[in-house]
Amino acid sequence: MSFNLGTPINTALLLYILYTVQRILFPSNAVPKTVPNEFKGGYSWMPKSHPPTLLFQTYTPRTLQPFNGEEGKRILLGINGIVYDVTAGRNFYGPNGMYANFAGRDASRGMAKQSFDVEMLTPVDQPLDKLDDLNSEEIENMRGWMEHFSGKYIVCGRLVENDAV
Ligand code: HEM
Repeated sequence: MSFNLGTPINTALLLYILYTVQRILFPSNAVPKTVPNEFKGGYSWMPKSHPPTLLFQTYTPRTLQPFNGEEGKRILLGINGIVYDVTAGRNFYGPNGMYANFAGRDASRGMAKQSFDVEMLTPVDQPLDKLDDLNSEEIENMRGWMEHFSGKYIVCGRLVENDAV
């Protein structure tokens, strides 16, 4: 059986093979003129924008309060001096969420006592809740929540007294 170049399909096949071999031997490494933001069969992919960066910071009750998720902004909450970025749990802590009361606040007592009552929150202009009246079961419960939060969210700061910063 002979290879007849006169047949259009054979000519097309030969051209295709030559083109493929040429692409393998001389791969294109031209720098794209614009930053690629879609996957187009290659790995020169970049997200449309840089993901937001998180800086470990020291917060006070007053500086933490604005991070309550209103107007789509980040949501932070504190438990026992540790601040977690719970923005990914907007359904829980966002303005209409079941646990919205914890957003931007020290949630320690509520987590310990398993309650989202308003009385669980210390007003932001008062000293931090010392939690010294909690019993061992409540402390254990709070620690359990901290473990849950550490595994699910990002630890992004610590919570100190208003006048400490
Ligand atoms: C009416 C009773 C309650 C119901 C039906 C309820 C229901 C739920 C459900 C379905 C979840 C999601 C679990 C998951 O997907 O992993 C959840 C998570 C949670 N619940 Fe409750 N809950 C109740 C009471 C409370 C109370 C009183 C607190 C107060 C501390 C609380 C704090 C939380 C927290 C912190 C989470 C974790 C959310 C997260 O992962 O970010 N819940 N609850």
